[in-house]
Formats: sequence, C-alpha cells, structure tokens
Amino acid sequence: MFSRRDFLLGASAAALLGMRGAGAESRALNPLKIPALLEGRSDGGALRYDLTVAAGQTAFLPGPTTPTYGINGPYLGPTIRCRVGDRVALRVKNNLEEPTTLHWHGLHVPALYDGGPHQVIAPEQTWEPSFLIKQQKASLCWYHAHLMEQTGEQVLRGLAGLFLIEDEESSALRLPSEYGVDDIPLVIQDRRFNPDGSFEYMSTMGDAEVGYQGDVILVNGTVDPYLALRRQRTRLRVLNGSNSRIYVLGRNDGADLVVIGADGSLLERPARMKRVKLAPAERIELIVDVQPGQTVTLMSYPVVAGAAGSGVKMRGAQEAGDTFPIIELRAGKLEPAGPVPERLISVPNWNPAQAARTRTFTLNMATMSLKARPLPMEGPMGINGRSMDMKRIDVQVPLGSIEIWQIENATTLPHPFHIHDIQFRVLDRDGAPPQPYEQGLKDTVLVEAGSKVRVIAEFADYADPVHPYMFHCHNLEHEDAGMMGQFVVV
Ligand code: C2O
Ligand code: CU
Ligand code: CU
Repeated sequence: MFSRRDFLLGASAAALLGMRGAGAESRALNPLKIPALLEGRSDGGALRYDLTVAAGQTAFLPGPTTPTYGINGPYLGPTIRCRVGDRVALRVKNNLEEPTTLHWHGLHVPALYDGGPHQVIAPEQTWEPSFLIKQQKASLCWYHAHLMEQTGEQVLRGLAGLFLIEDEESSALRLPSEYGVDDIPLVIQDRRFNPDGSFEYMSTMGDAEVGYQGDVILVNGTVDPYLALRRQRTRLRVLNGSNSRIYVLGRNDGADLVVIGADGSLLERPARMKRVKLAPAERIELIVDVQPGQTVTLMSYPVVAGAAGSGVKMRGAQEAGDTFPIIELRAGKLEPAGPVPERLISVPNWNPAQAARTRTFTLNMATMSLKARPLPMEGPMGINGRSMDMKRIDVQVPLGSIEIWQIENATTLPHPFHIHDIQFRVLDRDGAPPQPYEQGLKDTVLVEAGSKVRVIAEFADYADPVHPYMFHCHNLEHEDAGMMGQFVVV
C-alpha cells in the first residue's frame, strides 16, 4: 500500500505519470472519453434499456491495468437518455461474482424499482424495473450501485453512469444538446492506485473518517483530460461522482462560471459565479463560452469553509493546497452557437406555510469524538443517534404531504445529504438563502460542519408501506458506516 509520503513524487515521476502541477505550463495529455449514449429501443410501448454489469480491466495510467467494474463496458456506464412521459423498461444483468444493485439517483420512481439496498441483484440474475418518467422537470440524474455497506467500494470500482431526462420546456430553450458534440458529460472522480495497478481503498484512518480521497483525478475515467471544443458554446453536465471529495470549481482565467442547472432541474436564470462548491452526488450544468483559439482550464480550488482538511495531495501538485486541474477545454475553429436565454424555466417551489410538518435529522459520528471537545453526539455514525438498519423504518410520510426536513450537522465534517424519491428546494442554510446555483430542484445538499439546512418537498405519486426509500449522507464511506435511514410513503 502507498503511504501518503509516496505521493510526494518528483517532477520526473509526475511527468512520467502524465500529471501536471497546477502552475505547470504543460498541456493535458488525453482526449476526454465520452460515455456511450443509450436512448433505448421501442418495445411494446416502452423504451427498453439493456444494462450488463461486469468486471473488466482499465488502463488509466502507464503500467499495470486496473481491475474495474462497469456497465456495458469496463469502467462506468453509458449515459441513459429519455424524456418526461416515457415509459422506461430496464433490464439489468449482473455478471459480477458478487451481488450488486443499481439505484436511479434523482429519479422519482416507485420504491420497489428504486434500486436501493433492498433490490439486490444476485450474480447471474437479471433485474427488470419498469416505470413511467414522472420527473417534474428535465434533469441531470445518475445511477450507481447501492449495496448495503458496499456502495463505496462498488462505486469506486466503476458502477456509475448518467441518466439524462429531457422535456418540452428544456428543449424549447435551444440549449446546446448534441451529445458528445456541444453537450458534454463530466463525471469527476478521484482515485488512488496501488503499485499493482488496482485502486487503493480503505487503507487509512482518513478513508474511514473523512471519507476516501484520491490523488489522481479522473473525468469520465480519463486521467489528465482535455476536450476539443467545436462550438462557440458548450454545455457541460457535471457530476461529482467521487466517494467523498468536495470540489470548488472555477475557471483558471478568472471568468465566471455560467451555471444553468442544478441536480433536478435547470435554474430560473443563469447564475454567474467565480466558484461553485460541488459535493459528492451533486450536479451542475454549465455553459462555457469561448473564442476560437482560446484554452480554459476548469480547476478545483481549496475548500474554504468546512474543509475536509486531511485531503490527500494531488499527484504532481505544487503544494497541499488542493488547487488542481479538472479538465482543459481547448477551442480551435468554432461553429457559431445561439445565445443562452436569460430566462430559463420556472422552478417548482413550495411555501413553508404549506408544510404539514418539519422533521429534524441530526447527523452524528462517534469516530470524530476523539477530536471534538466536548463530544458533539454519542453513538455510531448515524442519523438521530441511530445507524442504518435495513429492518427498521425510521420515518413514515403521508402520501401527498409537503414537508420540511431540517438537517443538522452535529459533527466536525461536512456531509452531503441526499433524499430518494423526491426533488426538493433548499429553503435556507443557517437561516441564509442557498447559493444561486442551488436554487433549482435538488436531491442532495451540502450540510457544513455545525450547520443546519432546511429543505422542502412534496411526497407525491408513489405510496408503498413495505418498500422503503433511503435518506443518507452521500459521502459513501459515511453511508456505508451507517449514516443512512429509511422512510416509507403511506
Ligand atoms: Cu446516490 Cu441513495 O443514493
Ligand atoms: Cu438516490
Ligand atoms: Cu457524511
């Protein structure tokens, strides 16, 4: 196993590995891989999608290859695309030698087809969920393994992909939407490698407490990537697909990021921001506007508030300051592109006065109690003092009710809190309005150390007293350690 000292590579080693320091002048080496687009084929009134989960080998770095998992390929999965109103029929075949699940993160579907820890697909088995796409709005969702206590490891190995949902309203905006041309997925992940090429995982105390932090960035499974831009405007669909690393995204040329979308919908109008903090499982959509010949690097900058302080240093980085490139965007000759409207969509919202109740969820972790004085909370890594138990239903929500969920972070680390089934609006964070880029529909929200976030949502359409949905921290090491609970809609 590597120790942290081994990451302090000399310049020649860094060059050999294709790593560049944040300040280096060298250019990115590898063209960005684009996941295949899967649009489904018509089959008796439904769109049929065939997914095969299997083990493979992937060459990320020079040297030995990495044993990986993937869906319809060796690492990650295809981008599934459909429209609101479609009936979707998925066939998920598990060719692994271990059980797995696939969860449709951000989708509003019946609990039985949600793909959480209860919908286990044994080796050799096929799971066939089928549902109507009842999403309120066009959205940038994703899918990933969600096996009890093994989500972190299975996602690390590669079980994740994007799930794009379009609708009339979003199509009418004429945003860039030619997949792989001016509509580009960016799945950002961080990884560490063992000398034999395998992913290193859970080898340090930091992995278990702070969560897994890698020293190599992968974008769609590409190390040190660049993308040749072909149009004057490009839409980037960004997923933080990392187990636990938080990114603070920005452009290296100081220009604003133009954010047009959040997890579960576009924004009402573009938000122009120097920095966007993106926690695990959160998504943003960006529009990048460039001139011919221009090169822009999308960077990650140090996390200021609620720093995950023990962040592993990026390979080749100049200092432990956590400033490193995500992807280089190069514009050659460019085809012209239409403008981005200043008015995008109307985002559903609920008035707090409509809420039937407020529920409080306090996030706690005993493993941090050694550092915190006095102890913030006794007990295991959990929510409201309890660790995840698949046999215990924590919350019953009446069908059709509007509720406020208040998430309180009683720990010294940030936690991205995720709720299945619904898309919510963020009401406030410690009483202050959410960031402009958080003002769309969302299903995951960052709750900083010691802070309090309120979200509001309606629990519509699907009641099932037996099959639960999950709510949890989307730091996958925290989730696997028990920071998760279950609710049913009745
Ligand atoms: Cu992205 Cu419960 O998951
Ligand atoms: Cu989810
Ligand atoms: Cu957490």
